[in-house]
Amino acid sequence: MSESTPSPSPDSAPIADIASLAAHEGQRITLRGWLYNLRSSGKLLFPTFRDGTGTIQGIVPKTAVGEEIFDRIKSLTQESSVVVTGRVRADSRAPSGFELDVDDLHILQRIPESAPYPITPKEHGVDFLMEHRHLWFRSPRQAAILRIRAAIMRAAQEFFDTRGFIRTDPPILTPAACEGTSTLFELDYFGDPAYLTQSGQLYIESTAMALGKVYSFGPTFRAEKSKTRRHLTEFWMIEPEVAWLELDGLMDLAEAFITHIVTRVLEQHRADLTTIGRDISKLEAVIAPTSNADQTMGAATTEPTPTNLSSRPERSTAVDRAAEGPAVPTNDAGAVANPGAPFMERSDMGGSSSEARPSLFPRLSYDEAHAMLDAAYKEGKLEHPHLYGDDFGSPDETYISSQFDRPVLIHRYPAAIKAFYMQPDPADPTKALCVDVLAPEGYGEIIGGSQRADSLELLESRIAEHGLPKSAFEWYLDLRRYGTVPHAGFGMGIERAVAWICSLDHVRETIPFPRTLNRIYP
Ligand code: 4AD
Ligand code: MG
Repeated sequence: MSESTPSPSPDSAPIADIASLAAHEGQRITLRGWLYNLRSSGKLLFPTFRDGTGTIQGIVPKTAVGEEIFDRIKSLTQESSVVVTGRVRADSRAPSGFELDVDDLHILQRIPESAPYPITPKEHGVDFLMEHRHLWFRSPRQAAILRIRAAIMRAAQEFFDTRGFIRTDPPILTPAACEGTSTLFELDYFGDPAYLTQSGQLYIESTAMALGKVYSFGPTFRAEKSKTRRHLTEFWMIEPEVAWLELDGLMDLAEAFITHIVTRVLEQHRADLTTIGRDISKLEAVIAPTSNADQTMGAATTEPTPTNLSSRPERSTAVDRAAEGPAVPTNDAGAVANPGAPFMERSDMGGSSSEARPSLFPRLSYDEAHAMLDAAYKEGKLEHPHLYGDDFGSPDETYISSQFDRPVLIHRYPAAIKAFYMQPDPADPTKALCVDVLAPEGYGEIIGGSQRADSLELLESRIAEHGLPKSAFEWYLDLRRYGTVPHAGFGMGIERAVAWICSLDHVRETIPFPRTLNRIYP
């Protein structure tokens, strides 16, 4: 594929990637990469090469290659760049399944011993590694995490792209806040203040009114002065927004979305999950079918095998079905063909009752979650009590999510602690029709979303209560002036999802160049 690259290819052996060596078994090929490691035992050398697609061990007997090539390979230092030719031999003991009988090697750059590659196989402190982030992701573990990150982003987009959602990109430079004014990065926009976006939501609410089902995917920014393992100041958010969708349908959407992503990562990245030491059974439990008996606690009863995992048809949810039909029933003139259906009622969404599926993920109201924390505190399992009415702190979220094998959905938080744009619960207007998804294994919130306030008067008063400048939101209020409808959406931070799926201690390893309170280099 990259034959055009000028390379001192030793001879005419075709260029191959380590990942595609199965197609070249028994053939002589040329690899282009870096020396990862070198072992020697007398007249035998065992260099390990990496090329970005994988690693492979080479075998170099002095008798076979001659003194000059042997000495050249023996002189190699870690991360020296090389073009190496040899014959591909299957070896069941090798991690990649293959070894390379090296017969020639050209050096592009040999790193001198006087200024060696800084990251050696020995242990380094986190600060040192972060300072060398631009090199650190050459290590197999970091590279595997970046591949899984890419797979999560791909699966997330695929989920929406294959269900009739239109990607619409909101601006990054904005004149006003979306998620509260305290975490805005301000900049000078030709003499006027402007802010880096915290969320594309308000903008995609407007594209949803034009296109029905939309999503956005891009960088978002929070000037949070928090140093937790969950917070970045710059992160990537994927946000769907759907006209005619209400809270129950939104929860179904979030569940189907997460299930899809985990399914794809398990299908495509088992080797990478193994490289990083992920307990794969914990991810399998997330998507395992559930019986009626255990659905409330979301525990897995059937252990999926790799076979039934990959052959299992995608769970068809109400959202899937809605996407197949005229989900947003407008004709070209914009007339509503079938208002309400199929997103309005949960009973509509499951089709006939025999088709209706129980949700895989447990759902708790804020009140139920509070009661769970209260009981845990009284039993001495939590250090601090959760005060009713307060948001959940990290230890609270960690406790709740550690009670389940699957992500847990918490809905109907007190309106007072949530954003201005949320629809109040008609059954109890002190609560908002919102949902947070907490990942299992103590990872806490990965998704936040809600049904949106659709009344002009209500939104006007919420904007005033929150002390927001009404003039900056006139365009947003237009959505409630001209054909307002129920609608809902959520946002998932990619890095939070990567941290959970890869079981990482800290979000700093989930993105190539993390931006945190005290780091903007490299
Ligand atoms: O819960 P949040 O603040 O919700 C919103 O921004 C809504 N406007 C989204 C919507 O309804 N369209 O953020 C959504 C998600 C969080 O659940 C979390 O995954 C991620 O964004 N997130 C962060 N990730 C890393 N670092 C931070 N500082 C984050 N803040 C939020
Ligand atoms: Mg949130």
